[in-house]
Amino acid sequence: MRIALLGGTGAIGEGLALRFGAHTTHEIVVGSRDADRAIEAAVDYEEALSVHGSDTSIGAGVNIDAVSGADVAILGVPPYHVRETIETIRDGLEDEAILVTPAVGMSRSETGCHYDPPPIGSVSELVANVAPASVPVVGAYHSIPAGRLANLETAIDMDTPVVADDEAAKETVQNLTNEIPGLSPIDAGPLANAAGVESLAPLLVTLKHHNESLPELGIRFD
Ligand SMILES: NC(=O)c1ccc[n+]([C@@H]2O[C@H](COP(=O)([O-])OP(=O)(O)OC[C@H]3O[C@@H](n4cnc5c(N)ncnc54)[C@H](OP(=O)(O)O)[C@@H]3O)[C@@H](O)[C@H]2O)c1
Repeated sequence: MRIALLGGTGAIGEGLALRFGAHTTHEIVVGSRDADRAIEAAVDYEEALSVHGSDTSIGAGVNIDAVSGADVAILGVPPYHVRETIETIRDGLEDEAILVTPAVGMSRSETGCHYDPPPIGSVSELVANVAPASVPVVGAYHSIPAGRLANLETAIDMDTPVVADDEAAKETVQNLTNEIPGLSPIDAGPLANAAGVESLAPLLVTLKHHNESLPELGIRFD
């Protein structure tokens, strides 16, 4: 499978590149608005993987080139830029591609972090609204801290609720997620449930804000 990490130069892109690179044999491509930035990130990730004993090579390119031939494209860009990013790549997306969104709209104040979804209800629904009709959208990884993903010496030991209207696409992303040790997908139903799933992320940031001694927090549903 070919996995394109759009905005893969950022925190969640790095974490997912390292975990997929360390634990799977899938082809990984880092996307960026800037080709040089993508190449630089891919080299950094390859170095981090080699320290970990993996000789995975990682592709790189501007976002529209990264999605060419991709089975799964993960939108690792800030929530308020998903629309423009999809507009940039829509002509390059394969007919069979799955678009995955980990994005959560949130705002910060002195009291903590607050869920701040777009008017449509959630970023996942916004992505589905903007994506080509033929491309299924899956929401996942919202509450997995990027730093925990990127630290290959640390077990993840977290769940990630997964939402989608397309059951086959959801199953594909759940199977892909299951390939990363310690990261467990949980079927959270259709995209209509995305607001509840996304809103877990700002709660985790708020808990960390008020409890600095805690590590980066995730969720385990036991
Ligand atoms: N950080 C986390 O722990 C975490 C965890 C779960 C989910 N998420 C979600 O994942 C998404 C990315 O988070 P992040 O922390 O990785 O963000 P980030 O590091 O701030 O940004 C990721 C990448 O987005 C691209 N980008 C920045 N501004 C953009 C714009 N105006 N248009 C298009 N692309 C732009 C940049 O790539 P280029 O400059 O190379 O194009 C950047 O490296 C967010 O929606 C967040 O809610 C984050």
